[in-house]
Amino acid sequence: MYRTVTCGELRLADAGKIVTLAGWVQRIRKMGGMTFIDLRDRYGITQLAFNQGTEAFEKANGLGREFVLQVVGQVIERQAKNPQLPTGEIEIDVKQLTILNPAVTPPFTIEDETDGGDDLRMKYRYLDLRRQCVRKNLELRHKMAFEVRRYLDEQGFLEVETPVLVNSTPEGARDFVVPSRMNPGLFYALPQSPQTLKQLLMVSGFDRYFQIVKCFRDEDLRADRQPEFTQIDCEMSFVEQEDILNMFEGMSRHLFKTILNIDLPKLPRMTWADAMKYYGSDKPDTRFDMTFVELHDIFHAAEANKAEEERFSVFANAAYIGGICAKGCATYTRKQLDALTEFVKRPQIGAKGMVYARVEENGNVKSSVDKFYSQDVLQQIAAEMKAESGDLILILSGDDAMKTRKQLSELRLEMGKQLGLRDPKKFSCLWVIDFPMYEWSDEENRLMAMHHPFTSPKPEDIPLLDTDPASVRANAYDMVINGVEVGGGSIRIHDAQLQEKIFEILGFTKEEAQTKFGFLMNAFKYGAPPHGGLAYGLDRFVSLFAGLDSIRDCIAFPKNNQGRDVMLGAPGVLDPIQLDELMLDIRKK
Ligand code: AMO
Repeated sequence: MYRTVTCGELRLADAGKIVTLAGWVQRIRKMGGMTFIDLRDRYGITQLAFNQGTEAFEKANGLGREFVLQVVGQVIERQAKNPQLPTGEIEIDVKQLTILNPAVTPPFTIEDETDGGDDLRMKYRYLDLRRQCVRKNLELRHKMAFEVRRYLDEQGFLEVETPVLVNSTPEGARDFVVPSRMNPGLFYALPQSPQTLKQLLMVSGFDRYFQIVKCFRDEDLRADRQPEFTQIDCEMSFVEQEDILNMFEGMSRHLFKTILNIDLPKLPRMTWADAMKYYGSDKPDTRFDMTFVELHDIFHAAEANKAEEERFSVFANAAYIGGICAKGCATYTRKQLDALTEFVKRPQIGAKGMVYARVEENGNVKSSVDKFYSQDVLQQIAAEMKAESGDLILILSGDDAMKTRKQLSELRLEMGKQLGLRDPKKFSCLWVIDFPMYEWSDEENRLMAMHHPFTSPKPEDIPLLDTDPASVRANAYDMVINGVEVGGGSIRIHDAQLQEKIFEILGFTKEEAQTKFGFLMNAFKYGAPPHGGLAYGLDRFVSLFAGLDSIRDCIAFPKNNQGRDVMLGAPGVLDPIQLDELMLDIRKK
């Protein structure tokens, strides 16, 4: 037997026992006639003590970090106890030491506070994964996936696997493709999600399906995006939106309770229109208020009474003027305000500038646009914003209301961060509902499905499909936690004719629609039940629970920002023979 106990389980009550442990050398301390070694495994750390004069002591002096050992010894009470460690009251008086494997010195320290930078840790990810702080994220991930399965199983869901080699599904991102050797010139696509397949399972009568499944999207990477990520993908038949929201609110409640011991209150629901109006985002961080107040009426009325040359042209011509009120921030210095202005002017945000106003102790409003507006107008602004003495008002304006709201949203999030209002240990969850069916794409110069083309319009908006498709709302919903979209879904179209019409609005010809989606529309002809579903991003859910900044930290072997796995060297070049076999003529010139 390699071990009788793990490195995490011995306590004072075990004193006197003879035990066998196995693990890695975390740290070696030599103190005169004694050598101490911290032995680590998945479960914890146990201190080993070696006494001068013993055979084990001599051997211990030849050890290095990360050697793999087996020791036999007696559990004894420690003289100097370590209250930081669960095993900190005991140590092992080692009688016998076996080196199971030596190790070269690792390129960084295997400690929570390591000296290894990001790139180095990714290159040696298998060593990085030995660090407790990294491992515990994967343990959490396992527990969450396990509780998801438990909940869904109890609700009668069946886990069904769908293929990874499929055809392109229109989820909005680019596909990763795989050449087919047996069908020269043809390609599989890796699924962006199992969307159409789960709908086909509904046609097959599976009724309640789920799958914890890898999805692949070739898109620009960010902290909350990986090219391959995991969805908790779900679909149900004979349901309305309400049934789905309740079912999956239940799943989230189950996770919060079993994993974090938090009782999740009933989730508030916010329409997409309100989310954009008050937060400038379809995934509002509702851990704090600081909601938008629209100010164009007041400013435009003030401008209307002025001579042309006295106007503040920025506001006079703006389609949207909106502000946020930062409580107690009138003390912000000029330097801090300039930094905020620079923040919103960064190319990623793109505002032209920022106007600010402080409400002083005596109630006067002092602004960066004092020369254009009377105290009376500024007081109206303060009143509209419910700003009190000591508060700071920050205002953005622009020609495009949506774009300006998004800029103001970034400013709001930045202020939330600066004021410590985005505590990762606090959770604020909600449903965002009533998404628009379509959004305009400047790139494609056409309407695109905001969610995906299988999403059903709200029945009351169906007549608008012919007259004003851009205003049609969908039966689509997202679950948002702390400003992160953790999941999203919709009620689907189950009527082949309506589906054809939606494809038409999206600009597909009948032939294109038939080629791409004929399999689904044909299936619908054989009796498709009303159905709907959603998918959670498991990586995002886990990283929220773990309080991580990036989903990379809860993925065992993630890709870097260039989509590369530096440990495996993927993506890599192909052998010319393989290229020939695949009929790919893409050799480097
Ligand atoms: P959607 O595209 O909204 O919906 O994806 C569902 C959830 O998956 C997560 N997610 C990602 N996580 C990490 N990296 C990515 N690149 C990434 N892209 C998406 C998000 C998101 O909410 N088929 C539909 C679902 C449905 O309608 O049932 C779909 O895939 O958390």
